[in-house]
Formats: sequence, C-alpha cells, structure tokens
Amino acid sequence: MVEFALPKNSRISGGKTWPKPAGATETREFRVYRWNPDDGKNPSVDTYYVDTHDCGPMVLDGLIWIKNHIDPTLTFRRSCREGVCGSCAMNIDGQNTLACTKDMHDVDAGPVKINPLPHQPVVKDLVPDLTNFYAQYASIEPWLKTTTPTPQKEWKQSHEDREKL
Ligand code: FES
Repeated sequence: MVEFALPKNSRISGGKTWPKPAGATETREFRVYRWNPDDGKNPSVDTYYVDTHDCGPMVLDGLIWIKNHIDPTLTFRRSCREGVCGSCAMNIDGQNTLACTKDMHDVDAGPVKINPLPHQPVVKDLVPDLTNFYAQYASIEPWLKTTTPTPQKEWKQSHEDREKL
C-alpha cells in the first residue's frame, strides 16, 4: 500500500493554548489552524476559549471575538456576514462551509476545529489563495452560444427551444 506524507515544512506542529478569558462563565473551545509565511515555522493549531456569553452564535462571531479579545494576528476573510459573498468559506469540523452561517452550537460537542479550505494554497492562517479559482472561473463561458447570424433586434426563443433548455 502506498503511503503519503506531507513535506516536512507542511506538517502541523503543536500550537499555542491561550488562557481562558477571565471571568467567563461559559466558554467554547476553538482549535484554529495557524500559518504565517513570514516566520519560517511549520503550521500549527492554536487553542482559544471564546466567552459565549459575550459573543454571537456563529463560528464567524467566535473568530471575530478571538481577533478582538485574544489574538489580533488571527487572519481570515469575511465581508457580508450573511452567507452571500462566500469570503468566509473555510473548513469547520471537517466540512467546507461558511463561518457566518455555521452556528457553533451545530458543531458536535468538543472543540470547534477550523482549517482553511482544502486543496488551495494558504496565504496565511485561514486565508486561501484563490488565484487558481478565479482563473478557472474566468475560463468558464456560462452562456448559450449559437452559430446562426446575430439578428437585428433580439434573439427570439421558440417554445421548442425553451423546452430544450
Ligand atoms: Fe459573506 Fe460569510 S461573510 S458569506
């Protein structure tokens, strides 16, 4: 049987465990993938504790809470916060999903495990390099093509053509 292993510089090493927030009566553990291209170290997984009484219910709320209260270096993308733009896409508990629509209470008991989207190079922490994605996206021509001459006014669609669609 063939066994595959990550190159040495890609292996995930033990990360930092940050202290629980002082005075928090209820916390949720987050284990978050960290990698900084500038420090020359291997990726790691840091452990944080989010004060769930001081934070919204979504995984993205937890990440923002960590960034604001514990570790401002944590890097991730987000924009609309309502499941429209897709910029907060990441792997949460083994599933590729949107952090802004994933309720942390829907993640099984235990830590909320967060990784960048798989199969994409990582720019930093949870930010994937989407260069290839956009190149593929630009190569798609998602419109109907015809070999007939362009009409003067508009393309008319017959009921039969509509049926084909
Ligand atoms: Fe836009 Fe999550 S922030 S989809």
